[in-house]
Amino acid sequence: MALRKGFGFCTFYFIFAFLSSFSICARSEQKHSNFSADAASQWGPASATWYGDPHGAGPADNGGACGFKNVNLPPFSSMTSCGNPALFKSGKGCGACYQVKCTSHPACSGNPSTLVITDACLGGVCLDAPFHFDMSGTTFGSMAKPGLDDELRHAGKIPIQFTRVPCNYPGLNIAFHVENGSNPFYFAILIEYENGDGDLTAVDLMEGGSHGQGVWTPMRESWGAIWRLDSNHPLQGPFSVRLTTLTSGKTLVAADVIPANWKPLTTYRSVVNFSN
Ligand SMILES: *[C@@H]1O[C@H](CO)[C@@H](O)[C@H](O)[C@H]1NC(C)=O
Repeated sequence: MALRKGFGFCTFYFIFAFLSSFSICARSEQKHSNFSADAASQWGPASATWYGDPHGAGPADNGGACGFKNVNLPPFSSMTSCGNPALFKSGKGCGACYQVKCTSHPACSGNPSTLVITDACLGGVCLDAPFHFDMSGTTFGSMAKPGLDDELRHAGKIPIQFTRVPCNYPGLNIAFHVENGSNPFYFAILIEYENGDGDLTAVDLMEGGSHGQGVWTPMRESWGAIWRLDSNHPLQGPFSVRLTTLTSGKTLVAADVIPANWKPLTTYRSVVNFSN
């Protein structure tokens, strides 16, 4: 396993960036590319490494810097990756979907695999190219010909091609997980399973009762895919949530998705999703 060059970068650099008030990438010379990572149906160059268990989902706890949990289970099913700063976008890239493929190694199949950004890689090898994916072992191996996934993983770091694709969660609507510690003056939600862009640039909340009255209050990105609202009055449910995607600016309202008697550590499923 000496060739597992990507090992550990993800989590280590995320924690470092999280604990310091500025990101490690701010102190590094960034390489730039004219290729747009968000251009649909256009393949561009990136580099790739992998970390964690060879057949795992990346982080040992199946989480990551986006805050998603159980990324080893459907719908993510371990097809996950850290994004470098150009892909992670300080957390706003969380949830974006990409196809990746390789032909640079004899074990590469050349067939595209689809991954979701669930974690961050903000230093080290991840800054060597304009776009870098530090993938789960499962995702990296999925670019190989049948039976050659271990051989490909032994390559450690390879050039790949990538393209942005719409996310597609058949049968799943957008879910809101009320984070631990939420109370009437501090409300934090993890938002996941957005079809299409998969990413978010703005989240607004409308209260029920007398505070609602059609007023949308902006939440702010806490970290990763978690958005928070600090309130000077006790927030009154039910809450409606309005989402705006980062890549194409689409909006969607999940009306009254969180009931008045909401509880922390609870997931509330909406009845809506973006169309692809
Ligand atoms: C929720 O937060 C409290 C206080 O920080 C902590 O003691 C508890 O373990 C947390 N629960 C979960 C499930 O994370």
